[in-house]
Amino acid sequence: MTQMDERIRVKKGADLLAKYRYLEIQIVELMGGWVESIPEADVKISFGRQMYQDIVHADVIGRRLPELKARQARYHSIAPSDDFVKLLEKIWHAESTLHRLVALYRVLKSGLVEALTGHLSLIALPEDEPSERILRSIIEAERDDITWAEGVISKLIEEAPEQKDEVNRWQNELQKAWDDCGGLIAKGKDPGTYSFKKEFGYSKHPARDERWTIIDNAEEYSEKNWTFETNEGKLHLLHDLLNSEFITVERTGRILAEFPDLPWAMRIDMARQSWDEARHAEIIQRRLEELGGSVGMYPVNFWGWEMDVNRPDPLERLALSNMTFERESSKHVRDWIAKAKNSGDTESVRVLEYILADEVTHVQYGLHWVDELTKHDPERRKRVLAYPKMLLDEEHPVGVRFEETIKKK
Ligand SMILES: [Fe+2]
Ligand SMILES: [Fe+2]
Repeated sequence: MTQMDERIRVKKGADLLAKYRYLEIQIVELMGGWVESIPEADVKISFGRQMYQDIVHADVIGRRLPELKARQARYHSIAPSDDFVKLLEKIWHAESTLHRLVALYRVLKSGLVEALTGHLSLIALPEDEPSERILRSIIEAERDDITWAEGVISKLIEEAPEQKDEVNRWQNELQKAWDDCGGLIAKGKDPGTYSFKKEFGYSKHPARDERWTIIDNAEEYSEKNWTFETNEGKLHLLHDLLNSEFITVERTGRILAEFPDLPWAMRIDMARQSWDEARHAEIIQRRLEELGGSVGMYPVNFWGWEMDVNRPDPLERLALSNMTFERESSKHVRDWIAKAKNSGDTESVRVLEYILADEVTHVQYGLHWVDELTKHDPERRKRVLAYPKMLLDEEHPVGVRFEETIKKK
């Protein structure tokens, strides 16, 4: 065969792109579902960032597919084989951060990069230059992620050297399963029809590392009562907000994992919110430290978490957290900005203005998707919109001011 014969043709190209897209979406869901039970703060933040990056990869591939004549939705995401899906299911059940990172980066993302690189070596140019551009940019981003993960993996193994053999065994087992089923390309295999749900048990609160102290009883929690007028007040309020930012990475990630059938544009919004909140956590931690504080210096409370993530309807979660809590939080941040301005704390003003801009967008996500998905279902709309009020009338945590927050649009 001449080299020309081997170059990838339209139909084959579309088929491969749909497999890459399938894996990118699965990776987003794995990270989203895991983020609440991962204690390491730096991993949470990176997952928040990468969830958005990877859903964008899936999105740009999805835009290319109809151009390659793959117009129907069923051609936009193809599971390579049943065994491949079972491999993902096994990975989903991994419990430790180390096992998860090894599976995600050493097996899945490395396999993805290998497949994409192989594709590029056979791509028809300039015929398929649009796909080439997409694949190149994905490869570059995934390589950066793998480099980041290798750093974290080495650090975790250094801290727990007894894990090293077990982690190698796990990696070899997964790699063998990947190779046995023909990996992501799955040459000659039928596409997978098997699927599994990413399920969650009842959640009391998300995982935090050893620096944090958790107060279970909301009534004993008074961190929200400080004002932004003094340095001490700033430390208390920023520390409490830092915890809330992590919570929001966790709850939006979980929506992605738990509800794969939500509209694509909504899933992109949720991933975008995860990224925003991950940046907020990073920024607030930096500001907290600049002001002399540190992570874990005050207790935190998870009031609202149980009422959010254990609700079966994702729209009730958005009504509670995006439309109510984030709206309430925006009011507080506006007040902090005014106080920081008065005291000449321009750095806090700058930081908080960016955060506020994002928060307003998050409230809009809630309003938009509740409106959009209930416009033909008045019963559901009524129930969804009544949920926050019902809950807050019953339990009123200290420092959460609840005024006319659930006005209808
Ligand atoms: Fe935020
Ligand atoms: Fe937010």
